[in-house]
Amino acid sequence: MSGITRDLSDGVMTLTFNRRDRKNSITAAMYADLADALAEASTLDAVRVVALQGHETVFSAGNDIADFLNTPPSGADSPVYRFLFGIASFPKPVVAAVCGPAVGIGTTMLLHCDLVYAGDNAVFSLPFVDLGLCPEAAASLLLPQLLGYHRAAEALLLGEPIRADAALAAGLVNRIVSPQEASPLAQAQARKLAAKPIRSLIETKRLMKQGQAQQVARQMAEEGASFERMLREPAAREAFTAFMEKRMPDFSRT
Ligand code: COA
Repeated sequence: MSGITRDLSDGVMTLTFNRRDRKNSITAAMYADLADALAEASTLDAVRVVALQGHETVFSAGNDIADFLNTPPSGADSPVYRFLFGIASFPKPVVAAVCGPAVGIGTTMLLHCDLVYAGDNAVFSLPFVDLGLCPEAAASLLLPQLLGYHRAAEALLLGEPIRADAALAAGLVNRIVSPQEASPLAQAQARKLAAKPIRSLIETKRLMKQGQAQQVARQMAEEGASFERMLREPAAREAFTAFMEKRMPDFSRT
């Protein structure tokens, strides 16, 4: 059990973050499972739609910090990049249900989902700078496009969280419901999609995305190279060590 559960019914493959004692933070093993599941889902005729969800209280706390310190990603074959490139180029619809904290990649993966339904307790945060890092998943390109530059700067430079109502206004989520309703709503929408002609869904998604697919891939590759380098630098080491030691980081010597 990596912390990802997989379920397939009515043409919908549901991938659930199931590691609540660590706030659904994501380890390399979980990224590998997610990447493998997406690779299978893209070719299996029985899968027409993918649904992503966490728990009513937490979507995901982002990368597992201890795991990242111990086994940092290196190169495009790393599980985290296999997952990110997999979701960014996934041909079939992806629907997400998000409640509670969605930190780092917990938010950036949503930029590659087609429909996002949020609980009113959802909080989206991108603390890359506070961790001595830079964005991933082409968030440095897609977030300014979505929010406008200045609001994206508040989220990415200051690390200010985006609450559910602001995310709705910005178009990061489709609808806000109670935390108990988010997953059933996402599942119902996923089943509606799964009943539609799959070739039309795939072609429509391809046409909507093709305008900047190459730019997204280039941005992700450039972000990935910077992210990997910065993970080994003093600011990230201090931020991660401070998190594990439950103290405030001291960046004065970095
Ligand atoms: N990696 C590893 N462990 C994590 C984690 C992460 N990203 N996020 C939370 N945990 C662990 C905590 O260390 C804590 O462990 P403990 O029980 O041994 O003390 C446990 O999960 C519960 O987390 P806690 O912080 O007590 O829960 P909370 O409800 O008060 O806060 C969050 C939830 C998500 C807001 C908070 O945990 C958080 O900010 N996590 C870090 C997010 C982050 O920086 N992610 C990296 C992005 S690149």
